[in-house]
Amino acid sequence: MAQTRDSFGSRFAVVMALAGSAIGLGNIWRFPYMVGQYGGAAFILVYLACLVLIALPIFFAESIIGKSTGRDTFGALESIAPGTGWKNAGYIAIVASFVVLSFYSVVGGWSVDYLLRACTSGFHFEDPAQAASVFRDMNASAVEPLLCLVVFLGLTAVIVSAGVDKGIGRFAKITMPLLFLMVLLIVWRSLHLPGARAGVDYLLRPEFSKLNGRAVAAALGQAFFTLSLGVGTVLTYSSYMRKEENILHSGLWSAFFDTVFALFAGFAIMPAVFSYGIEPGAGPSLVFETLPVIFSRMGWVVPVIFFLSILIAALTSSISMLEVVVAWLVDQKGMSRRNATILTFVCALALGSACALSPRVFSTCDFLTSNVLMMAGAFIFAIVAGWKMSRSEFHKHFTNFGTSRASSAAFPLIYFLIRYITPIAIIAIAVANFF
Ligand code: PHE
Repeated sequence: MAQTRDSFGSRFAVVMALAGSAIGLGNIWRFPYMVGQYGGAAFILVYLACLVLIALPIFFAESIIGKSTGRDTFGALESIAPGTGWKNAGYIAIVASFVVLSFYSVVGGWSVDYLLRACTSGFHFEDPAQAASVFRDMNASAVEPLLCLVVFLGLTAVIVSAGVDKGIGRFAKITMPLLFLMVLLIVWRSLHLPGARAGVDYLLRPEFSKLNGRAVAAALGQAFFTLSLGVGTVLTYSSYMRKEENILHSGLWSAFFDTVFALFAGFAIMPAVFSYGIEPGAGPSLVFETLPVIFSRMGWVVPVIFFLSILIAALTSSISMLEVVVAWLVDQKGMSRRNATILTFVCALALGSACALSPRVFSTCDFLTSNVLMMAGAFIFAIVAGWKMSRSEFHKHFTNFGTSRASSAAFPLIYFLIRYITPIAIIAIAVANFF
């Protein structure tokens, strides 16, 4: 089975696809706000520690499970721990991926809607209250968000059905550099606004007094979400890596691009928010209520670039979620890539429509995945890679059969973190989230 599987054609495609999955709404609507709320540069340090010591080792765990087996999430766990119940744990990740895809696509649909508005005349908002009522009216109309959901999911499906390298890899190779360029343009515009300094201070001034237990839990939760951990996307993409690819290398580059993008997003958003004297918020209200007001005052180019960036960031993430389900249907159920994509598209459209029409369903799906399923998935991957795979197998695949000096040097620390530290950290965040 493994021989006939598709694979990414180059190292650049692997890193861009992984970075594309990682860079998404989380970087834009959560990270900048969190940094400002929890102590600026002080929070960034804590975040980096969580990323390097806990999130990245889980990334490596998922990646090694995928690359060493060359199979989908279910098949990979089955081949590492045959005859045990571990393979069923793969379903948790596949379900999580499907659920995230469904509600994430609703937001992707909103960005299609706002991009179209920004391209046509009439993208003008007086104040956040008026922008909020436009956003409410759009959602109340039902037809508009559903149509945009179909467009967004349809785009996702077209790219996935085109194949791993020709679809996913090629799309990421073109759009990711473009995304960085676009966000840099907004950073440049934003930093030149009068009073932009207050936004820079908000992001960078270190305030160690704001660092509390909640800040650490937030940093850890964000590091998980942003690296797309626990839902099988890293596992599935890694299963399409060629033998010569290096897990340490691709993980470090993806995390680096992800972090740099999150910081750029902060410098694109916060200076503008402060320059206009508006309260920074987070989540949908930041992107669809606050920022349209600010960006629409800067002419038509900035809003178009901004919503195109949101759309690309969301698409490269939704593609990775859809691929987890498609890989499972193709590998385990023998479906063609095209049929597997169509089937998943139809099912995600059904759940996505429920999310679009009911805020309760939307927030339940969000809560269930971010707080329960993603954590459970990450825990399973850490245990399987750290305890079910033999140390020598792990070493072999992590170090490319001992040929990579950097990976060989990093191996003892990473293996220790995966076995002991990450499972404990996951249990700690789960407990912190519930109490
Ligand atoms: N990492 C993405 C973001 O920051 C979200 C995501 C979660 C993508 C799970 C894929 C899988 O928005």
